[in-house]
Order: sequence, then structure tokens, then C-alpha cells
Amino acid sequence: MKTQVAIIGSGPSGLLLGQLLHRAGIANIIIERKDPDYILSRIRAGVLEQGMVDLLREAGVSERMDANGLVHDGFELAFDGRSERIDLKALTGGKTVMVYGQTEVTRDLMEAREAVGALTVYNAENVQPHDMKSDSPYVTFDYNGETVRVDCDYIAGCDGFHGVSRQSIPAESLSIFERVYPFGWLGILADTPPVNHELIYANHERGFALCSMRSPTRTRYYVQVGAEEKVEDWSDERFWEELKLRLPPHVAAQLITGPSIEKSIAPLRSFVVEPMQYGRMFLLGDAAHIVPPTGAKGLNLAASDVSTLYRILLKVYGEGRTDLLEKYSQICLRRVWKAERFSWWMTSILHRFPDTDGFSQRIQQTELDYFVSTEAARRTIAENYVGLPYEAIE
Ligand code: APR
Ligand code: PHB
Repeated sequence: MKTQVAIIGSGPSGLLLGQLLHRAGIANIIIERKDPDYILSRIRAGVLEQGMVDLLREAGVSERMDANGLVHDGFELAFDGRSERIDLKALTGGKTVMVYGQTEVTRDLMEAREAVGALTVYNAENVQPHDMKSDSPYVTFDYNGETVRVDCDYIAGCDGFHGVSRQSIPAESLSIFERVYPFGWLGILADTPPVNHELIYANHERGFALCSMRSPTRTRYYVQVGAEEKVEDWSDERFWEELKLRLPPHVAAQLITGPSIEKSIAPLRSFVVEPMQYGRMFLLGDAAHIVPPTGAKGLNLAASDVSTLYRILLKVYGEGRTDLLEKYSQICLRRVWKAERFSWWMTSILHRFPDTDGFSQRIQQTELDYFVSTEAARRTIAENYVGLPYEAIE
């Protein structure tokens, strides 16, 4: 087979890139090792920055998001018995976020791809990129017992944190920056009405908690748990009790509980690989970086990588500007590191760490107090939360 861009992985990064390229007349094939049902069964984050919302509109896949997504003008920070609202819209000159689940974004993109008849190979085994440093890279995979070869101009590694793309780059060509946090998030999805019309991020001496939602009738709640905790040890009752203990009493009193429809524990990690490219292969999304979920930046960073590679490839195919290709990594990393910093900071001020003593708890609370008590500091939180601007490609 032959195509212009071979995309490895059909998560949000691969699908969004594929859709944008297809609309621009740039041929692409997506090669994915799982099946669509598996991909759609994963519950991930659900807060989209304005930049990602605009990109989904540009890709022509925003109809359901625009009809069903919830525009949020602010969120709450709860700590030390207080609830403080960060008014995103007022503090950023009108910017907001869209609450719309990653699962829905993925479904919309999959349907759009099917509608235009672009090829996605699901259930591909032993996917492998080759000759990335040459002018004629290719990808191989096994399908129904046969080895298939896809020749291409460029490879987009959109295969997530555990994917093959990053692992196919020689270790000496990469630098890895990483921090693993000594706790995880236990998340529950339930068909109950949200406890508040906006998200609540809570710092509590028992640990962090987050109230989020997917729709007016579906909620997503999280509590910080130890890294060793097992989801089997958390009955729904135990979860709801723990959540109530960590929320301000007036919020806990309003909480409507119900049976969980999904429950899982996610570890927290910060991770960046530099550079995000190797010859004619580019890394996007979770293949190149991970953020802890505090601040909801993971999916949004994937979108800004997609935007950068898409705009570069438009110039490469439209104007012969191959000189821009070598800039991909440095353009992406500027924004990636800013989101890494914000996610790390939100994580560090909101969670309880194993070595949190009286001193560090006072510092945490003072930092929160300081950040909500001046307009300049509130603006700093707000502009990061709605998403920093996408970097220009030149
Ligand atoms: N070959 C082919 N496909 C692969 C391989 C492989 N060796 N390894 C992984 N994949 C597929 C996975 O099955 C998955 O469908 O690549 C896809 C990667 O998707 P995601 O992990 O969702 O990553 P990405 O598309 O970058 O999405 C951005 O940011 O913080 C997160 O929650 C957010 O998952 C979201 C991500
Ligand atoms: C979610 O709804 O799953 C969610 C929201 C905000 C976050 C993280 C996760 O910061």
C-alpha cells in the first residue's frame, strides 16, 4: 500500500490529524492495534479548551459537541473550608471551556472518518515504523496472518504512551523527563445529576477530590488514593462516603449518589520526550508527553500537537516548505512544557503527599489563599486553564 501520511494509532490524536489531512486532500491511512469498541470503552477526561473546540470545528466534526457540550464559564477551588470561584470568562476576556467527553470526541471522529471513506486498519498486529531517517519511510503490520507494508512520505506516531513509535527511536537520540506521583485517582462515572453546575477541585487533609460531569444527567467524580490501592477494595458506598468527607459540607449535603457505571484507578505521571520527532516520524499526544489530569490538559495538548503538524504539512504539500518540518518538535515543546508546568503545579497544590507535614500543608493553603486573593494570580490560573494560545509555526 502507499499513502502520504501513515498514522499509527486511532485515539483522538490520530483520528483528528487524519480528519484534518483528509479534508485538505492529503492522503492518510490509520493503523490501530485494537478494535473500535475497545477504544470507545475507555473513559478519559472531558474538558476541551477553546483551541481544541475551534480545531474540531475546523475538522467538521463539531455538530454533536456544539449541540450537547456544556460551555463552562468558571470552576471552583475548595480549600480550608472555603469555596472560591475562578471566573474563567471574566478573567480571560471572554474565553471558556467545553465539557464534552473524550469518548464522544473519539466517536464523532470515527464516524466522520467512516463517512468520508478514509481507511483505518483496526486489529493490526506487530505494527512497526521503518527507515524514518530515510526519504522513504514505511510501516509494516500483520493482518489476518499476512504482513502488509505501507510506503509513505511521513509517519505520525499517535499511539499513546505505550505505543511502538517512541520505542522505535534509538534511546541515544531521545531525552526523557519524568515524574511519577505517589498516588492515583479513583474515578467513578454515574448517572446522577451534577452536585454543582461547574467543576469543583478540592484540597482536603484526607486528599484531593474532583467533581466533574459529562452531561446534566451523568457525573464523573474522583478521589485521590494511594498508589497501591485496588479498585476492588472500593465499593460504591465507600467511594461516596470518602468523597463527601472531602467536599465542603454545603456541597456534600447536596450530593446525589447512585450506582457506578464505571470505576477505575489512574496513576499520575508527568512525562516529556525530547525531541518529538525522528527523521520523517513525528510524535503526537500521549506518545510524546503525559500530564497528571489535574487541569485537564492531556487531550488538549494532543490537539495542539495535531494543529502544529497539520499546519506544517499543509505548507509542505501546498508550498514545498519542507524546511518547516524540522521545527515541529521545538514549536510543540514550548507549549507542552507550559502545560506540564501548570498540571504539575495544580497537582502539587491540591494533593496530599506522603511527606506532607504541618509546614507543607500551611504552605499549600497559603499558596491557594494567595492565588485566589489577587486578580493577577487568578488571571494566571484562568489563562492556563482555558489554554494558552497555540504557537505560530513561523
Ligand atoms: N500499534 C498501533 N496502535 C497502537 C499501538 C501500536 N503498537 N500502541 C497503541 N496503539 C493505539 C492505542 O490502542 C490507542 O487507540 O494508539 C492509540 C493511542 O490513543 P491514546 O492513548 O488515547 O493517545 P492520544 O490519541 O495521543 O490521545 C490523547 O491524551 O491525556 C490523554 O486522555 C487523553 O487519551 C488521551 C490522550
Ligand atoms: C473529567 O471530567 O474526567 C476531568 C475533568 C477535569 C480534570 C480531570 C478530569 O481536571
